[in-house]
Amino acid sequence: MNPFPLERPARLAVLASGRGSNLEALLKAFPPDDPLGRVVLVVSDRRQALALQKAVQAGVEAVYIPWPKGGRAQFEEAALQLLQAHRIDLVLLAGFMRLLSPGFVAAWPGRILNIHPSLLPQFPGLHAQRQALKAGVRETGCTVHFVDEGMDTGPIILQRRVPVLPGDTEESLSARILAEEHQAYPEAVRRVLRGEAWPGSRI
Ligand code: GRF
Repeated sequence: MNPFPLERPARLAVLASGRGSNLEALLKAFPPDDPLGRVVLVVSDRRQALALQKAVQAGVEAVYIPWPKGGRAQFEEAALQLLQAHRIDLVLLAGFMRLLSPGFVAAWPGRILNIHPSLLPQFPGLHAQRQALKAGVRETGCTVHFVDEGMDTGPIILQRRVPVLPGDTEESLSARILAEEHQAYPEAVRRVLRGEAWPGSRI
């Protein structure tokens, strides 16, 4: 059953492994006084992740949880405890470079979102922009979707299209897509928090 909309601001957690530009967009879109939701926790599997610094700068709790070799269970156990302790309503993967286990995903049905830099189901996995250039498509984009046990599978919430231009490099295409990601992710989160999107619903 869809838990959204809530009668209070939703408590959002962001999981990020790297630079954190989507985190920044989410922090901007969901500041502490937003009635729909606010980012209250940022978790990273990389101690040096810029995302953690950005969270601290924004005054949001930032936690590093190591992902030990072959130790996904340890990370997930610590993450689960943290999410519960912070009474998190919705988990947002933003450049989180790990695959969560089916058990973890099942514990959060319809409450984990991800953003991917392609028009899924095209070009899942790593280097989606490189894949698009190699395939010679004229258009690509970004997708926000609910997370299921697959890699970049799961029901789509929204997509934004981006042209591939002559002479594009992986960098120029990634930058054009990223600008759209920063609009798309907050918009998709708003839809979920308003109860307008749910894995079982036709979107
Ligand atoms: C984005 O392109 C996102 O779609 C992908 O990883 C990248 C993360 O960038 N999953 P950032 O860390 O949010 O800047």
